[in-house]
Amino acid sequence: VNLPPLVRSSRNLGRLLRAGRGSIGFVPTMGALHAGHLSLVRRARRENARVVVSVFVNPTQFGQREDFAKYPRDLAADRRLLAPLGPSILFAPGVGEVYPRGFDTTVRVGGSLGRVLEAAWRPGHFEGVATVVARLFALVAPRRAYFGLKDYQQFLVIRRMCLDLGLPVELVPCPTVRETDGLAMSSRNRRLDARRRFLATALVRALLASAALAGQGERSAPRLKAAGMRVLRAAPGLKVQYFEVADPETLLPLRRVRGRAMALTACTLGRVRLIDNISLMVPGHA
Ligand code: PAF
Repeated sequence: VNLPPLVRSSRNLGRLLRAGRGSIGFVPTMGALHAGHLSLVRRARRENARVVVSVFVNPTQFGQREDFAKYPRDLAADRRLLAPLGPSILFAPGVGEVYPRGFDTTVRVGGSLGRVLEAAWRPGHFEGVATVVARLFALVAPRRAYFGLKDYQQFLVIRRMCLDLGLPVELVPCPTVRETDGLAMSSRNRRLDARRRFLATALVRALLASAALAGQGERSAPRLKAAGMRVLRAAPGLKVQYFEVADPETLLPLRRVRGRAMALTACTLGRVRLIDNISLMVPGHA
């Protein structure tokens, strides 16, 4: 099995990309690859002549008290995981490649997307994400870019940025990949000890409780939230940052669900922060 070429500098990446032909599918990641990332790479492989996977733990999207230093890093393992999926380029730039000396631009998506839920709990996070994604798009120049919907708000923020700036990249949202017990795959899961790993399933169970109630025709967002909160409160040691029933486009909280809504949650278990979401459908609406 051939390991993908590991490219560190944007100059070498440019050289390699110019030497080839055909559409580029791009999977931006922060490494510690898991089955969720691999599903994005497989899809990118199916839909493009060439695939670039970036691994860059972006310092600007972590808050001061967040887990940048502890974020798992294992580039050799990432490379091995990519090998069986077919040819790809592994782009793992250093901080100085992504943010060269003098770099002084920040991309900020405004409106409710830049204000609520993750944006409220992680000030500056989406500025870091939008800026690094814009920068990586400039370096890779992909036709399509693949994002997992576990980070639903991130997807909406990046979509807004691409629309507003007219970036010529087709964004491909991909379904959340889950462990057999339902826990959404995340690089942070590997920092959970066995007890907390078990408790972490409360997030998906809470979302499913809310979705089941919506499926029975409940339109009241407070009641849909209460159903989720009951499950989260039953998990000892789990701290809820938010459990919200929100409009799928603006992410503003709803009072009543008309048709489709999103339930989104963020919780901490010890020092590990987990997020997840699910789409809610109340029957009887087109
Ligand atoms: O979702 C992630 O892994 C990161 O936020 C991304 C999109 C790679 C930007 O650093």
